[in-house]
Amino acid sequence: MGRIVLEKVTKKFEHVEVIPPLDLTIEEGEFTVFVGPSGCGKSTLLRLIAGLEDVTSGSICIDGRETTSLPPAQRGLAMVFQSYALYPHMTVRKNIAFPLKMAKMDQAEIDRRVTTAADVLNLTDYLDRRPGQLSGGQRQRVAIGRAIVREPSAFLFDEPLSNLDAALRVGMRLEISELHKRLKTTMIYVTHDQVEAMTMADKIVVLQAGFIEQVGSPLELYRAPCNRFVAGFIGSPKMNFIEGDEAAKQGAHAIGVRPEHIKVSATEGAWKGVISVSEHLGSDTFFHVHDTGLAETITVRVDGEVSFDHGDTVYLTPRDDMIHRFDANGLRI
Ligand SMILES: Nc1ncnc2c1ncn2[C@@H]1O[C@H](COP(=O)(O)OP(=O)(O)OP(=O)(O)O)[C@@H](O)[C@H]1O
Ligand SMILES: [Mg+2]
Repeated sequence: MGRIVLEKVTKKFEHVEVIPPLDLTIEEGEFTVFVGPSGCGKSTLLRLIAGLEDVTSGSICIDGRETTSLPPAQRGLAMVFQSYALYPHMTVRKNIAFPLKMAKMDQAEIDRRVTTAADVLNLTDYLDRRPGQLSGGQRQRVAIGRAIVREPSAFLFDEPLSNLDAALRVGMRLEISELHKRLKTTMIYVTHDQVEAMTMADKIVVLQAGFIEQVGSPLELYRAPCNRFVAGFIGSPKMNFIEGDEAAKQGAHAIGVRPEHIKVSATEGAWKGVISVSEHLGSDTFFHVHDTGLAETITVRVDGEVSFDHGDTVYLTPRDDMIHRFDANGLRI
């Protein structure tokens, strides 16, 4: 359950085409992440799948069933939003049970499902509280609970963690990944955070201006980005791009090297430059190197203990086997 197939799906708002013809298959049980910059169409695509927006053309099939013109309630999917949209006057128990009550489900079955969901989400002790008496992370779990009890064939998440602080985000990220391992239900997760994409996804769909730039596993995208956009979007700090003679020597219009694939030395190396900024994160250090004549800045990521500082002259050597080459159209060679 939970195989979703989009064929030639398009979406126009007024006369503006936000999604050009798009084909995508999401396999049963897969954790798929839609990632891309703000405004690229991630939420629109999710809302089309959910049925909250109508497609302009094309078809959406869920488990072999044509659902393109079905209302959201009949698609068997459950959506979790950034704003939890809980009812403030209802207890956690009633909030979670709400969609089942609306569906006029038998009370014993409602109780069973609420108990199970609360157990899965560690909310058992909070069932009689109201949302106002919960932390942000607990509220988001209630919102997920409300989706779980519907036993959907797929969960759709639209930036569910963006209201949470950094530490809580990491915690919830793990919880959602564990939930997926336990439920084995298809999940589609929208985020603009590439770290969330890399850590959670079985499959990442990178979007730009409504186009799918690349689909692949996190490591496929990291190791073999199909163009400069994906190369620059996946990975943090970003990949360095170098054009001109240095690229021409390698038969490319541009070469790309990730910060973690450059060695730094005080005495010898391929490229010479001066450290303009060093950022010490403890575990790692990022050097921003100027005056190399290659690009405005070359960012290098090294071990936290490496001792160079602002103003030092350094020599950089990229790892030969980790150089990405791109042609004049930005495509991988
Ligand atoms: N109801 C609407 N009417 C007109 N244009 C819309 C509507 N909804 C979205 N758009 C436009 O469609 C494009 C895609 O929007 P969408 O919300 O899908 O982006 P997103 O990738 O989710 O961005 P973000 O990361 O900021 O949430 C944007 O240019 C947006 O302005
Ligand atoms: Mg959005």
